[in-house]
Amino acid sequence: MTSHTIAVIGGTGPQGKGLGYRFARHGHTVVLGSRSEERALPVADEVGERLSGVEGAGRVTGAANADAVAAADVVLLAVPWDGHDELVATLPLAGKTVISCVNPLAFDKRGAHGLVINGGEGSAAESAQAIAPEATVVGAFHNVSAVGLWGDEEYLDEDVLVVGDVVEAKEVAIELAAAVTGRPGIDAGKLRLARQLEPFTAVLISINRKYKVHSGVRISGLDAH
Ligand SMILES: NC(=O)c1ccc[n+]([C@@H]2O[C@H](COP(=O)([O-])OP(=O)(O)OC[C@H]3O[C@@H](n4cnc5c(N)ncnc54)[C@H](OP(=O)(O)O)[C@@H]3O)[C@@H](O)[C@H]2O)c1
Repeated sequence: MTSHTIAVIGGTGPQGKGLGYRFARHGHTVVLGSRSEERALPVADEVGERLSGVEGAGRVTGAANADAVAAADVVLLAVPWDGHDELVATLPLAGKTVISCVNPLAFDKRGAHGLVINGGEGSAAESAQAIAPEATVVGAFHNVSAVGLWGDEEYLDEDVLVVGDVVEAKEVAIELAAAVTGRPGIDAGKLRLARQLEPFTAVLISINRKYKVHSGVRISGLDAH
């Protein structure tokens, strides 16, 4: 396993904290980022306490978002779509592998639904790539629930779908997925397919509400690989 230093942008939220916890539990060094270092530090302590006694766990610290990025080789974007572009533009992302799990969703009386990005020709992941052309952006972990990430199950019984245009960057996310599910993520195609993965989470939210569960995605037919 390659050991990474992973900056989690939005690391004070449930999704960033949960993924940070899972990555550190697998031996990676994690820096939870926030717009305010003061908010990041107690969350890092909370994750660190949860990992105390876990053999081989990586260190978890907190920092302001840009400082977290500077310390990392991998950056996870785990912030809301609202304000995403403005935040990404402030981060020193050149040369980094950037993983976006950002889902541009909205909620109304009929439930959750995906937002149309760039007239249907864009996604949060592609937007990050356009803003940070010297980074390599992949999309992954869109469909993994924060509740499961912070839960007690050793591994979540689901698959992580990874999209991107650069194989080496996708391989980073595919390997990191094993920290969450116990098996590698699935290469699901090019970065533009984030346009399908991101809003699909609205379908899972609808299923969760109907059946009172935390659903995820499992891909069949891959047993031979
Ligand atoms: N929650 C889930 O189950 C889940 C599942 C899959 C994917 N996702 C995706 O993961 C991302 C994070 O989800 P979340 O539920 O953790 O979100 P969240 O709690 O709403 O936000 C995460 C963190 O982002 C920072 N933030 C909030 N507004 C911001 C803004 N305008 N500009 C910059 N930073 C801001 C905040 O940290 P500071 O105030 O400390 O900076 C906040 O703690 C979202 O895009 C979501 O669609 C979530």
